[in-house]
Amino acid sequence: MKITFVCLGNICRSPMAEFIFKDIVEKNNMSSCFDITSAGTAGYHDGDDMHHGTKTLLQSKKIKCNNFVSKKLTKQLFDDSNIILVMDDNNFNDVVNSFGQNPKIKKMTDYCSNKDIKYVPDPWFTKNFDEVFEILNDSLNNFFNQIKK
Ligand code: 4NP
Repeated sequence: MKITFVCLGNICRSPMAEFIFKDIVEKNNMSSCFDITSAGTAGYHDGDDMHHGTKTLLQSKKIKCNNFVSKKLTKQLFDDSNIILVMDDNNFNDVVNSFGQNPKIKKMTDYCSNKDIKYVPDPWFTKNFDEVFEILNDSLNNFFNQIKK
């Protein structure tokens, strides 16, 4: 199953989601069942490493995050993915506008335990990477428990 995490710039939120989810899958000995990647709706940072705030946070949690290269979501990647998990309504609308309505496009916060949280805030603007980690870690554990069945 191919899972692609999508945000705007593909340097803060979706790389964090990618490596948290890879860590969850690895700890459950299910790495061979998943092809996990991430992309941005904009190509602002194509070729760049992830934001140092995301990298520092992942490293502090002992989550591997090497060999990352930022990329834009392409039609090929969209078509190849079984699930596209976006961070906010802007990402959702951008993906739908580019590639069409598709039930495989899901919002991360649909899996969040706290139903009052409706989007993953962008730390490029808020600078709050810890808040993003808490939302993603909770949502991705719930997501994994749903799809592993
Ligand atoms: P992300 O954050 O979508 O979580 O990767 C952003 C990164 C870069 C920019 C915006 C958001 N930017 O405008 O360059």
